[in-house]
Amino acid sequence: MNEAIFPLLDYDETSLDAAFIALAEEVRSEIASLQDREAFRLRWLGRKQGRLKLIGDAWLKSAPADARKPLGIRFNQLKQQIEAALATASASPRAAEAKASLDITLPGTVRAPGIAHPLLKTMHEIVAVFHRLGYSTALGPQVESDFYNFEALNFPPNHPARDTQDTLLLAGQLAKPSRDRLLMRTHTSPVQVRTMIAQAPPIRIVVPGKVHRNDAADATHSPVFHQVEGLCVDTNIAFSDLKGTLDHAMKALFGSNVKTRFFPSFFPFTEPSADVQISCIFCGGKGCRKCKHSGWIELLGCGMVDPAVFASVTAERRKLDPADDAYNPERVTGFAFGMGVERIAMVQHGISDIGQFYSGDMRFLEQFA
Ligand code: DAH
Repeated sequence: MNEAIFPLLDYDETSLDAAFIALAEEVRSEIASLQDREAFRLRWLGRKQGRLKLIGDAWLKSAPADARKPLGIRFNQLKQQIEAALATASASPRAAEAKASLDITLPGTVRAPGIAHPLLKTMHEIVAVFHRLGYSTALGPQVESDFYNFEALNFPPNHPARDTQDTLLLAGQLAKPSRDRLLMRTHTSPVQVRTMIAQAPPIRIVVPGKVHRNDAADATHSPVFHQVEGLCVDTNIAFSDLKGTLDHAMKALFGSNVKTRFFPSFFPFTEPSADVQISCIFCGGKGCRKCKHSGWIELLGCGMVDPAVFASVTAERRKLDPADDAYNPERVTGFAFGMGVERIAMVQHGISDIGQFYSGDMRFLEQFA
């Protein structure tokens, strides 16, 4: 909307300057609170109804002949000022708009906070189940020695797991005695040994962590993956305690309808050893593609701690106290178990490619928010 045009009564230089200073001031204050750039442009520079055109017509009409030129020069200057102001306003239209349209009653911008990676989430869930049973968390190094990773766990010297085919060995270890050679731990079981050497029974620990194997990546294998280990050592620990504990843990993780069954298996550090299967959570045990039509899904390994492991632990403890007898297998027994976090998470979420966990693809990860 155009306001009335004030008449110019005098055409001397001082009056002209004062009139144009007033117009320039009008332009400046409108630019400062600019909301609609195009409306501003039309209002001042519109060819028919623009203020410059109307003011120019009005003032030139009544101007004496010798005032036309100085008037014209000043109109041109003002036009250039308006155009320059429009150019800078368009360089930061956002800032001008934001300033003009700030509405403090609108909800704020929500910043998406990070979420735990699905693997970490599952790892925390597993650990939490055992914390509620009174277990504490124990951690150990990923660069481990042959002694903790293999020897003390009763792996014989030529066991295939010790081969470079299966285990990532550190360079330059061959000059060392076998027990001191460093490798990337292949499982979280060495933390059992470290804990027992440091601590007398009773022991109840869970050990979450990264492990490494010389495996090619495919849909179910990754050279780096995660495990949660468990160890319980006390007087009167029996296989039935192991069964009850793991049955409870599987129900806590997968739902109370899940059944467990224990199959004979072998691990050098447990005797007897077992593989634990849960009834297929996808088909309820009827048989489907996910459980290869068996109705069961294999999830973890476990067993009663082999007395040979207690013997290795005792040998180490006796280096400090020759009379140590804390892990006398006549007095204490224990059970252990180990599970793959990726495997559990894949079953929990029905994921068939392990590689998705490491892809960093936000479309995958956001589903776990
Ligand atoms: N360490 C075994 C593995 O990596 C898993 C395992 C099996 C751990 C039985 C145990 C156990 O503590 O008792 O395959």
